[in-house]
Amino acid sequence: MEEKTWVRMVTAQTPTNIAVIKYWGKRDETLILPVNDSISVTLDPAHLCTTTTVAVSPSFDQDRMWLNGKEISLSGGRYQNCLREIRARACDVQDEEKGIKIAKKDWEKLHVHVASYNNFPTAAGLASSAAGFACLVFALAKLMNAKEDNSELSAIARQGSGSACRSLFGGFVKWNMGKAEDGSDSLAVQLVDEKHWDELVIIIAVVSSRQKETSSTTGMRDSVETSLLLQHRAKEVVPKRTKQMEEAIKNRDFGSFAQLACADSNQFHAVCLDTCPPIFYMNDTSHRQVAYTFDAGPNAVLFAHNRKAATQLLQKLLFCFPPNSDADLNSYVIGDKSILKDAG
Ligand code: ADP
Ligand code: DP6
Ligand code: CO
Repeated sequence: MEEKTWVRMVTAQTPTNIAVIKYWGKRDETLILPVNDSISVTLDPAHLCTTTTVAVSPSFDQDRMWLNGKEISLSGGRYQNCLREIRARACDVQDEEKGIKIAKKDWEKLHVHVASYNNFPTAAGLASSAAGFACLVFALAKLMNAKEDNSELSAIARQGSGSACRSLFGGFVKWNMGKAEDGSDSLAVQLVDEKHWDELVIIIAVVSSRQKETSSTTGMRDSVETSLLLQHRAKEVVPKRTKQMEEAIKNRDFGSFAQLACADSNQFHAVCLDTCPPIFYMNDTSHRQVAYTFDAGPNAVLFAHNRKAATQLLQKLLFCFPPNSDADLNSYVIGDKSILKDAG
């Protein structure tokens, strides 16, 4: 008798995160193990997030994925590593409503289809790889009924894109570089939740939505190979700065927070210039305002002390860079800190 065909689907939504102490450089390219700890803030999914639907059906004859409506190849090691790690943790699934029963051992033979959308520019320095891989791993784990907690899932998301491990938590998040050779202790932990520093306002000034010329992966590989400043930064600067940043966040000390975030953004871009060939992520419109951090792209992430300061800052920004003017600054996004939402 012919088996009745079914489809099981799960949808998840994951926000992006912006680092205030940057991850730049790997000590292991395959496992994605970093040369230093990093700290980030997770944004509100209403503004910058990935929505991913994963589906499984006995009628699927291979794993396939569509990113922003276009099919992409899953042959890259990063997608394969994430799929393999979640499959290895898959458990029995029983969906009585739909009459679906999947035994643990069935997952080896079943294939998945993935459809993912970013509601913000992909590969433009706004951490699409972070939201993207965190969402993929989270959605697959739900689909396959994996029992791992978010920290354990963060170590899998890390193998898709390093920064992704920090998007499994809301609020301020630390990625511990870890010591273990297998990467088992290189995972994310929440420092404080999204309510802790309610006053803080994040404004993202989108200077360019274009795809950057040097991907983060290639850029940091070149930096590791050629920049002496990177070695100094990882060993001497970041360990101390991470501790100071943790204190500043715990105490809601905006003065220290601003000084440390700006200093770290500056040093990260100095490392990029110290790389051979040099990497330029900022363009002429990227500029200084209150506390800022620039990721691997030209777009400014600005931190205002509170709503009043944010309003004043926005007034100045709109005066200097009115929307639709000749200035190369197309939009502003007000990002609140947020928690992870499961839309599935
Ligand atoms: P960004 O600054 O946007 O993170 P990266 O160069 O680090 O830029 O990463 C961009 C890459 O991340 C894309 O080329 C794609 O391979 C991957 N990516 C982006 N969005 C998603 C997504 N929603 N799901 C899976 N992978 C994604
Ligand atoms: C500048 O996580 O995108 O945004 O691990 O190679 O995928 P891969 O790189 P990715 O690098 C992010 C670099 C950064 C700083 C940060 O997010 O910490
Ligand atoms: Co990225």
